[in-house]
Amino acid sequence: TKSWILMATGRSPTNIAVIKYWGKRDEALILPVNDSISVTLDPDHLSATTTVAVSPTFDCDRMWLNGKEISLSGDRFQNCLREIRKLAGDVEDEKKGIRIRKEDWQNLHVHIASYNNFPTAAGLASSAAGFACLVFTLAKLMNVNEDHGKLSSIARQGSGSACRSLYGGFVKWTMGNDASGSDSIAVQLAPESHWSDLVIIIAVVSSKQKETSSTTGMRDTVETSPLLQHRAQCVVPARVLLMEEAIRNHDFASFARMTCVDNNQFRAVCLDTTWTWQLIFLNTTRQIAEACFLMKWIIFEVAYTFDAGLNAALISPNRKVAGLASKAAICFPPSPENDLASYVTGDKSIIYE
Ligand code: PMV
Repeated sequence: TKSWILMATGRSPTNIAVIKYWGKRDEALILPVNDSISVTLDPDHLSATTTVAVSPTFDCDRMWLNGKEISLSGDRFQNCLREIRKLAGDVEDEKKGIRIRKEDWQNLHVHIASYNNFPTAAGLASSAAGFACLVFTLAKLMNVNEDHGKLSSIARQGSGSACRSLYGGFVKWTMGNDASGSDSIAVQLAPESHWSDLVIIIAVVSSKQKETSSTTGMRDTVETSPLLQHRAQCVVPARVLLMEEAIRNHDFASFARMTCVDNNQFRAVCLDTTWTWQLIFLNTTRQIAEACFLMKWIIFEVAYTFDAGLNAALISPNRKVAGLASKAAICFPPSPENDLASYVTGDKSIIYE
């Protein structure tokens, strides 16, 4: 047979949770203990770009992350690859004389090259952008004819928060009830254009890898925090409805309050554990939260939220205010690694080339 190669490239941004996902009810399928809501960033700033290639000359699946080969043997990669292959369709490229029937995908191998334009595993949800992009791009290459909801349930099996990066704007991940995870998918609540004045400033406090992985931290929280049950059953359901309403009505005061208190409760369930409490004892985190509190009283309201790493996301209601906030944020602890940048929310969830 004649040798050929077929490629697809995609780009996918990261997202910042304003109602946090923390805790799995099923670790293998990555099913959460509560719904979560996030804002997707602009892919020009914080995104993963992934090229996938298929050729009959490839004898195994391989992947390179930022130019370095990484192992695909983990369950998360294997689950995503298997699920996408199951849905693969026929592909024809007349110019190149290529004809792939859907059953051929089971025996064809892929090479994957992915780049992040931000620090990997520093708590900026690099896995969210990475798995969303991997699943989306493989789906393009393999001519998968499914909606974003279905693709989000596959990306979820790579990294929970990845399911929310399949859309731009404001996104909800519904936990679902089904044991198979088929209804644990992401849906778009509103496009970025719905509230385009909203700006997110990311304070990259450190590009170091975070010390506790979210998987380990969540496991510890599920196993040892009695507060988590209360959060998941009694707090988050009502808060998700209020957050949806705040987004619908452009009610920034309410949006900011809920973003901050939900971040604080996420930190509280981490504190309520045997080991994961380490996540919250970070001076910078405290100083940024305090600065936001001060800003609220002095000039304007600004929301803060942290993921499982050191980096902060400040959310403010308009671009002028964001400029001021990012200047104020410059005062945060001077460290050679500090690199403060402002990133706006994005609508171009994924660009396909
Ligand atoms: O998807 P993971 O395993 O990287 O977990 C993400 C957890 C948080 O970022 C802290 C919260 C969230 O909802 O994104």
